[in-house]
Amino acid sequence: MTRELDPLAGSVERRPASHDLVLPHRLLDAFEGCLLCVDAGGIVTVANRYASELLSSEDGGLLGSSFLTLPEAKNQRALAQAVHAAQAGRSVHDLDLSHRHGSRTRVIRWSLTSMRELGTSDEEATAEEARPNSSPMLLAVGIDVTERLEHERQNAEDDAMAVMGTLAAGLAHGIRNPLNAATLQLELLLSRARRAGDASLQSQLAEPAALVQTAIGRLAVLLDEFLHVAQPREPVRLPSSIAELFETVLAHKRPLMEGLGLILLSKVSDVGLLARCDSAKIKQVLVNLIRNCIDALGTRGYGLIELHAEPRAGGGVSLAVLDDGPGLAGHMHGDAAFQPFTTTKAAGTGLGLSIARKIVSQHGGTIQLSARPGGGTAARFWISE
Ligand SMILES: Nc1ncnc2c1ncn2[C@@H]1O[C@H](COP(=O)(O)OP(=O)(O)O)[C@@H](O)[C@H]1O
Ligand SMILES: [Mg+2]
Repeated sequence: MTRELDPLAGSVERRPASHDLVLPHRLLDAFEGCLLCVDAGGIVTVANRYASELLSSEDGGLLGSSFLTLPEAKNQRALAQAVHAAQAGRSVHDLDLSHRHGSRTRVIRWSLTSMRELGTSDEEATAEEARPNSSPMLLAVGIDVTERLEHERQNAEDDAMAVMGTLAAGLAHGIRNPLNAATLQLELLLSRARRAGDASLQSQLAEPAALVQTAIGRLAVLLDEFLHVAQPREPVRLPSSIAELFETVLAHKRPLMEGLGLILLSKVSDVGLLARCDSAKIKQVLVNLIRNCIDALGTRGYGLIELHAEPRAGGGVSLAVLDDGPGLAGHMHGDAAFQPFTTTKAAGTGLGLSIARKIVSQHGGTIQLSARPGGGTAARFWISE
């Protein structure tokens, strides 16, 4: 398939003598997503630059290839059903399909709409309309949601782990109390039998009592181990380099941020700045705060997140995570955002800030969210000497 590239029209691929979109091609090319026209036979007839770069196979362009075989084999059936529905006039939204792109898999979230529904002025679509039994052309719009899904998955997993830890610790304590009571009652029973001087009763009780004691002992060991894993431990505060701490957080988050078009920078007043902290826990605070910035900026496709640190006037270290996002929702000022389970996000848990505040207070400090003068949000916290 030859590509028809008109230097004045940008790089939108068009299939000669076929359907076309009555939209400026430069506009289509500027769109940071896939935009395709698919004819009645499922063949791609128009593709913008983004789609061509993401979806073209190694052996040629997108034009003339089958839309139905673009995603990975496991998703092709779902796409065929969606195409069928869209052709019948039922638009399909939020259809996530995996596509191979080089050595990686990208997840594209597709919306399919028939040109008839759009009331397009495209000549052929109008002609098709005159033939009511034929399938209409489809407009397929796809957004790459790979990073967003990964970010949501990580968020949900981290928050679930934190909740599980708290629940598990509570449950373990709840089990331990009745277990202690049972051990006590068993010993009471045995000592009563001994005092009664009834040898036959004593020998009858000996074996079941030993079995119960062994079972309780096993449960107690299990609980101890479980608690050790589940219970959030107290922080162990050691002098730690803030520059190094920022660097590990940056290295961990950067690939995701780049995929989302975001920039993450760190600014430490003095490379040698030390904070007496549990670095794993402060890392968790930073990660939770950065995650909120990503949530605020992620769908926008550009943005700057900054990590700052400097010595605090009264001793200790002041830290901040800043973004240039849309800012706090009206009812999220002051303490509100820190309440557990308070969230403005459809998929939020509302736990990130409450966990962060707990850790900061374990380090003798406080944390606040505020609006930045030029727009965006600042999360500032400090830890004591
Ligand atoms: N950087 C930020 N920009 C805008 N809003 C924020 C920011 N950080 C926190 N928030 C607000 O605080 C709320 C609570 O945050 P959090 O406790 O981390 O829970 P979640 O992220 O699951 O919503 C968020 O839902 C959001 O409304
Ligand atoms: Mg959060």
